[in-house]
Amino acid sequence: MENYALELRNITKTYPGVVALDKVSLGLKKGEVHALVGENGAGKSTLIKVISGAIAPDEGKIVVEGKEYERMTPALSKSLGIEVIYQEFNLIPNLSIAENMFMGDFIGGKMTVDFKKMEEKAAQVFEMMKIPMNPKTLVKDLSVAYMQMVEIAKAIVKNVKILIMDEPTAPLTEDEVDILLKLVEKLRKDGVTIIYVSHRMEEIYRISDRLSIFRDGQWIATHNTKEITRQKLVCEMVGREITEKFPERKNNSGEVVLEVKHLTGRGARDINFSLRKGEILGLGGLVGAGRTETARMIFGADPMESGQIIVHGKEVSIHSPKDAVSNGICLVPEDRKQQGVILSLPIRDNITLPIIKSVSKAGVVDTKTETQILEKHKNDLRIKTPSFAQKVGNLSGGNQQKVVLSKWLASDAEILIFDEPTRGIDVGAKQEIYSLMNKLVEEGKAIIMISSEMEELMGMSDRIIILYEGVQQGEIEREYFSQEAIMEKASNITR
Ligand SMILES: Nc1ncnc2c1ncn2[C@@H]1O[C@H](COP(=O)(O)OP(=O)(O)OP(=O)(O)O)[C@@H](O)[C@H]1O
Ligand SMILES: [Mg+2]
Repeated sequence: MENYALELRNITKTYPGVVALDKVSLGLKKGEVHALVGENGAGKSTLIKVISGAIAPDEGKIVVEGKEYERMTPALSKSLGIEVIYQEFNLIPNLSIAENMFMGDFIGGKMTVDFKKMEEKAAQVFEMMKIPMNPKTLVKDLSVAYMQMVEIAKAIVKNVKILIMDEPTAPLTEDEVDILLKLVEKLRKDGVTIIYVSHRMEEIYRISDRLSIFRDGQWIATHNTKEITRQKLVCEMVGREITEKFPERKNNSGEVVLEVKHLTGRGARDINFSLRKGEILGLGGLVGAGRTETARMIFGADPMESGQIIVHGKEVSIHSPKDAVSNGICLVPEDRKQQGVILSLPIRDNITLPIIKSVSKAGVVDTKTETQILEKHKNDLRIKTPSFAQKVGNLSGGNQQKVVLSKWLASDAEILIFDEPTRGIDVGAKQEIYSLMNKLVEEGKAIIMISSEMEELMGMSDRIIILYEGVQQGEIEREYFSQEAIMEKASNITR
């Protein structure tokens, strides 16, 4: 029998109406990077929660270094060297890196904290990680990628043996992903076992030794990553044949519907562009380039200091999202948890709230029409849920994102701004979203899409505008799209 660092035997976990994990068995070899892949709602995060002790399985056993457990608790799993890095960071912004790293077990005497020693130890860890970082820096002054590094440093300080990362790169851009993956490679060399969850195929192929495929709570297969083609992997994940190609679309752009002139505010200055009917305009750049800030100003979510927004040739004044909506502009935000949905409300309310008037007759909600709309969205985007009464907070991460999207796809806005529309979305549903976006522009809508995924930006846009540190670096027409051209502008390299 294989000597596993961690083994799961017949793990089952059910929720009302959902079998989140169905007799799952899995072994992790010491020092391997093991990717968990599967569609949204397949059970990946649930499996991680069972390992970390955040939830107890209904049935099954967890075996760590040969010892059997009925369930983990957070304290027990930590004591066994298991650390999880969740998508939502557990860092305190106003404390230093060192203080965050030793949070919970400060170094020092009974009543004193030895800051110097903590800083020294933190510095040693960063040296080992080969990352230039000053332990005195406040966490709030770090970029998302470096906050991620602090989370990992925190795990290293605790002598991590099994490091679990649930979609660690979702908020990162390509070169930040590179920093992270190099670190993962280093940890593997040092003998750490790593569980890696991601929807980004390139990453899975670059980093994992083996991968396990899940579908509807069931374990489907485990492969040596080198031995399975991307095409076959995608098919096993979704259980049907699909291609990863971007759907065909002709450029059929019409008249200008939106013009932005000298738009200036927090995070972006002097932004100028126009958007045509039937067009998808890509907004590229690195994290912090000012893409989201630009979108939020157009949507009235953040104030603009100067500049003009012109809709159908007429200058409009937008001071709030309400003003934007009444001018036919909608924003699908990147941060679904804070801005997109109300987690404590059922799916039904979240999707139909913005269109409640159109599904009501004389003030009474026409439940038949409402249900038809809901069914359509559920099918179009493959939302996985036992019922529309399910609280959005109980859905898997990717399915929450799908609810955000449906909410806005149901609105009749003419200008749609999508900020990272497919973040955390599985490959199958990504295709559906791309097709829906194409359908929207074919129907005469205009779309601005912010994306950090180069493939997506190039695959979907008619034109791309690149921002760098809040300043527009120029525009690229579809026929001149290339990774190099975009990166050059995005990192402000001048030749
Ligand atoms: N607290 C809960 N209450 C009810 N159902 C839940 C709860 N937590 C998870 N589920 C359900 O369990 C299933 C598995 O969810 P899980 O979060 O593990 O999926 P996932 O593979 O991580 O998906 P994603 O890629 O979208 O993050 C989903 O159908 C989800 O709706
Ligand atoms: Mg998940």
